[in-house]
Amino acid sequence: PNGARVLVASNRGPVSYSLDEAGELTSRRGGGGLVSGLSAIGPDADAVWVCSALGDGDREAVRRTGGALDPQDTGGQRVRMLDIAADVHADAYNGIANSVLWFVHHMLYQTPLEPVFDAEFRRQWAAYEAFNRAFAEALAEEAGEGAAVLVQDYHLVLVPRMLRELRPDLRIGHFSHTPWAPPEYFRLLPDDIAAQVLGGILGADRAAFLTRRWADAFTECCRTVLGPGIPSGTRIGVHGLGADADFLRERSRRADVDERMAALREQIGTAPDGTPRRTIVRVDRTELSKNIVRGLLAYRQLLEDRPEWRERVVHVAFAYPSRQDLAVYRDYTAEVQRLADEINSQYGTPGWTPVVLHVKDDFARSLAAYRLADVALVNPIRDGMNLVAKEVPVVSDGGCALVLSREAGAYEELGEDAITVNPYDITGTAAALAAALALPDDERAERSKRLAAAATALPPAQWFLDQLRELEG
Ligand code: G6P
Repeated sequence: PNGARVLVASNRGPVSYSLDEAGELTSRRGGGGLVSGLSAIGPDADAVWVCSALGDGDREAVRRTGGALDPQDTGGQRVRMLDIAADVHADAYNGIANSVLWFVHHMLYQTPLEPVFDAEFRRQWAAYEAFNRAFAEALAEEAGEGAAVLVQDYHLVLVPRMLRELRPDLRIGHFSHTPWAPPEYFRLLPDDIAAQVLGGILGADRAAFLTRRWADAFTECCRTVLGPGIPSGTRIGVHGLGADADFLRERSRRADVDERMAALREQIGTAPDGTPRRTIVRVDRTELSKNIVRGLLAYRQLLEDRPEWRERVVHVAFAYPSRQDLAVYRDYTAEVQRLADEINSQYGTPGWTPVVLHVKDDFARSLAAYRLADVALVNPIRDGMNLVAKEVPVVSDGGCALVLSREAGAYEELGEDAITVNPYDITGTAAALAAALALPDDERAERSKRLAAAATALPPAQWFLDQLRELEG
């Protein structure tokens, strides 16, 4: 075949479409490490990105273009969007990827939230296989002789093996953006499914992870589930994606961010002595793994135990909706909202709102909060990396202290200059917040500088090119 030299495959692509009532399509480009990474290889690189249609707008765009999206909408990037039947996509994405695999990787199943591996699960698994097969077939069609294919994440773990069978000439990489659970936990998956997940990824020439810890857990799972040694030529790699310093510094200084800073300052207000209030900032998708509820409980405990901080601090919490097709996410979103309201009515005064919660996704406002942050709270139960932990120190105006979960991938790189917490320990997190607020200005600035340096060590472009080089080399 006479096709692309580099291919990226991921469920969510670099662009999405919405359809208005008049039948007009509007495209919106997304951000993230893969987008800037892939753009780093340049327009001549002959690259194509294969992704799923995620909503009605996307499906309409596929219908009008046959799947090869208009380069005007994608910033010149070749994108092939797959219109996988909506029910198959829902079973694969909501049922398997986001309900089961995400929960296993982040170890979120804990009584009373338990997995159910019944006939319905098996039906959804068949959809997950079909979804993966659609990607493998599209990639096999698009790829030129000997091309490099970079398959992304837990949505597509079966693709490497399927693609290998269709196209033995290709060089295939798989990258996991999530943590990987140790075997004792991973083995809650039915044995045949666990073997398929691992065997799928082992169809790749190279399986890569964000940290050594997740890579080692994967290797351990292979050993435990499949027997000793990795039974194939699959190499294991680690690439710790960093923040994009140039982009963030430039973007966070634009006028729209300044405007939002002014609005946020207004909401935060000043302490009774006239000094600006301190801010504890968090920005997350509203996601169980992000542990937003325990973060709020820790903040409440801080206000309870250390009344000297009342009226003098504000928790700026941005919790952007995510995966709202799933009831457990909707319930979690409601719980975050309820608890924020409760803290506000419990401690708030006419001039002070203790928690400023925003749920409408707004990138410029996130950057504004980063700039204002005195303390960044990043306390996930588990996280593949967590880029917020890396972005806030880069952007914050006065330098910020970082309260960081030891279960975030970023801990490996930032742990030394952060104040680290066990994410389950609410009292410990309250104490860490107090310690972070009490850091003297010069120490906070020093630490923040070192955090920013560590956080930007591997910019997205380099992260992407390294993987490509390793695969092609
Ligand atoms: C995680 C996954 C990504 C995914 C993102 C957003 O970070 O590793 O693959 O893109 O969550 O999730 P969503 O379900 O909205 O695509």
